[in-house]
Amino acid sequence: MASIDVMRDPTKTGKAIRAQIRDTIPKDLALETDFKEGTKYTITEHVIKLMDELCKDPRTLKVFTSLVKHLHAFARETGLTHDEWRLAIEMLTRAGKESTDFKNEFILLSDTLGLSVLLDELSHPRPDGATESCEEGPFFTVDAPELPSGTSLIKDGTLGEAMFFECTLKNLKGEPVKGAKLEVWQADGDGLYDVQYPDRVEANNRARIIATDDGIANFHGVMPTAYPIPSDGPVGDMLAATGRHPHRASHLHFHITAPGYDTLTTALYPDFSPFLGTDPVLSADKAEWANMGFKEGDVTTGRVHIWKYAFVLASNEEVAALKAKK
Ligand SMILES: [Fe+2]
Repeated sequence: MASIDVMRDPTKTGKAIRAQIRDTIPKDLALETDFKEGTKYTITEHVIKLMDELCKDPRTLKVFTSLVKHLHAFARETGLTHDEWRLAIEMLTRAGKESTDFKNEFILLSDTLGLSVLLDELSHPRPDGATESCEEGPFFTVDAPELPSGTSLIKDGTLGEAMFFECTLKNLKGEPVKGAKLEVWQADGDGLYDVQYPDRVEANNRARIIATDDGIANFHGVMPTAYPIPSDGPVGDMLAATGRHPHRASHLHFHITAPGYDTLTTALYPDFSPFLGTDPVLSADKAEWANMGFKEGDVTTGRVHIWKYAFVLASNEEVAALKAKK
């Protein structure tokens, strides 16, 4: 930035900012071209050069150099106007002000722009045959209770139709994964996560389930229904401006961890969804409900959704080998 002296100098304050910067940068930090008569000045090069000279941390330098290059290229490519940039700044300001512990507009933005899932793809590449990953979404919390397999996910009074979920956890060789934990979180039958209830006192519809050494985990709870992501904030405005809707098909979220295996963040969608498409079925057999852990009176609609899935985890070595190839 221009120094205070330069800003106060009436012969200089009328100059374009790039000229002010040029005049105040020590010569040894400025680009050669800045001082050559008739050469085209590039503000991008200037900022990069400054960081190159002053930033001590190589990774920070790499990230910010790339950020400046791409941000400037974006402005040039789109011919970004002041009004548009002001709108973007207002949106980001609102995103900060309207974010809470349980509704983070920046996570929504990252998810809806596809950045979250891209980062996961880059950090956790999956070998063929391993379960695909997807974004975590904005409703993960750290207070889910740790419970054994066979547990109930819900508190009394939770809305929704009964559901039993069971999965196997295997590696790419088809062997059971030992020591796995399956963190699950989901919406209820009204399409709402526990954190969306203002009177939430404890975790509901979420748990960290300890799988058996045979690589099996199950729980019972309610079938989630479709829900819109929060669209009353700036991200909702962005979706509307780009012609997108905020609705998501019903789904279950998972973080799956196990010693020696790459963490899997994923979600399952029922077969009527246009996304991953797995296959819950229905059971009307009361004896079967008891085996799933439901007590008398738990099932009020005369049927239980049964959802089974086989997760395939990649080992740390398999993921490291894929990363090394890139
Ligand atoms: Fe979700």
